[in-house]
Amino acid sequence: VMAVVRVLLLCLLYCCLYTVAFRFKMTNVGCESFNQSWVVYRECRLRAISRNKTTLNLLVFVTEPAYNIFMRLQVLKKANGYKPWVMDYMIDCCRFMRKQYHPVAKLIWNLFKDVSTVNHTCPYVGLNGLKDFHSIEHIPLILPSGDYLLNLTWIFDKKPQFVTSVYFTFTEDT
Ligand SMILES: *[C@@H]1O[C@H](CO)[C@@H](O)[C@H](O)[C@H]1NC(C)=O
Ligand SMILES: *[C@@H]1O[C@H](CO)[C@@H](O)[C@H](O)[C@H]1NC(C)=O
Ligand SMILES: *[C@@H]1O[C@H](CO)[C@@H](O)[C@H](O)[C@H]1NC(C)=O
Ligand SMILES: *[C@@H]1O[C@H](CO)[C@@H](O)[C@H](O)[C@H]1NC(C)=O
Repeated sequence: VMAVVRVLLLCLLYCCLYTVAFRFKMTNVGCESFNQSWVVYRECRLRAISRNKTTLNLLVFVTEPAYNIFMRLQVLKKANGYKPWVMDYMIDCCRFMRKQYHPVAKLIWNLFKDVSTVNHTCPYVGLNGLKDFHSIEHIPLILPSGDYLLNLTWIFDKKPQFVTSVYFTFTEDT
């Protein structure tokens, strides 16, 4: 059933791209490093600009070059706590930056790429992140209205190093 839902979701993503509008708003952000000797958060901040608009700044400092990076991309939906939802992918970041092979990662990358400093392939070292990402009013994603969590677990050398949690609400634009 999950597989069918995923396929349907991908079809929707493609068919409705830019034709159906939804409202997306970030409400909170959480940042945690599990290994301060490799990754330290320098900035993790959500700022309200107006009632509908928030800006996200995220910066991590990577002390030693990371050559093997995976990201676990989970979307969870709130219902008595955040429950796993249809999206749970493991993405090979080094491969993705060479060729955007993963449609869901590509969709998310397209939202962030213009404000990020990470447009190159591995290794990653030093400061990396996002500056002034605005929650856009209309976003080409099909999710039922509700509260969500985009949970990104960053894995270097097969071990989780840090997590970025972006909480957002999604409402159908009527
Ligand atoms: C923590 O980071 C160091 C590099 O500073 C690395 O050698 C070590 O393997 C990491 N530990 C874990 C559990 O990933
Ligand atoms: C803010 O959102 C509300 C509905 O959520 C909408 O009616 C209003 O026009 C929006 N304001 C701006 C400035 O976009
Ligand atoms: C990085 O930027 C270049 C030039 O703007 C672009 O051609 C390339 O597709 C970008 N790479 C990714 C992974 O988006
Ligand atoms: C988000 O990811 C972190 C790190 O993998 C994990 O500890 C946490 O439980 C996840 N959050 C949820 C709500 O699943």
